[in-house]
Amino acid sequence: MSDSQRCFAAKEGLFSKAGFAWAIIRRHFFFSGYLHIEARLPDAVIEICDGTYISNNCVIISEGPGIQIGQNCLIGSEVNIFDSDFHGLMDRKQPAKSAVKIGNNIFIGSRAIILKGVHIGDNSTIAAGAVVTREVPANVVVAGNPARIIKVLND
Ligand SMILES: CC(C)(COP(=O)(O)OP(=O)(O)OC[C@H]1O[C@@H](n2cnc3c(N)ncnc32)[C@H](O)[C@@H]1OP(=O)(O)O)[C@@H](O)C(=O)NCCC(=O)NCCS
Repeated sequence: MSDSQRCFAAKEGLFSKAGFAWAIIRRHFFFSGYLHIEARLPDAVIEICDGTYISNNCVIISEGPGIQIGQNCLIGSEVNIFDSDFHGLMDRKQPAKSAVKIGNNIFIGSRAIILKGVHIGDNSTIAAGAVVTREVPANVVVAGNPARIIKVLND
């Protein structure tokens, strides 16, 4: 992301970037959930840029490669975003890891899961419940498990 974008960065579990405004909205019931953002290892960084909204009960965890979320994204409730499998297929202590990059103006529906290594191009939509395992180009809608393109957005 360019230096001109204002980003929030969580490093080692701390919300450390100065000058970023966070709002906690108190509303009964729907917004009473828990948002878990965790940069788990010393080099892990999670960046969330201006104008991005994250709904309740989302889990975003980086174990090192990094998670970038661009500007003006809308992330629905109970979305999970991981840059690691956390456990290896053979050796449970050696997980596969790969950076996640979510562009600008992305809409992610409720309960979608964004897995390690996924890059999502600008203006795309991830349908509710999608399991995203591969790159998503710009200006498309993907849905399902594994997520596939169901619509191309032309303006
Ligand atoms: C992705 C979404 C925006 C698509 O809306 P749309 O463009 O109006 O899509 P359509 O209703 O025309 O559906 C197109 C096709 O995709 C399928 N589809 C739509 N949403 C789907 C989903 N979440 N999972 C799997 N398939 C889906 C439809 O069944 C349809 O398939 P068909 O052509 O075989 O009948 C919408 O379905 C969605 O998932 N919204 C997310 C809502 C949400 O979670 N908001 C956040 C709240 S906090």
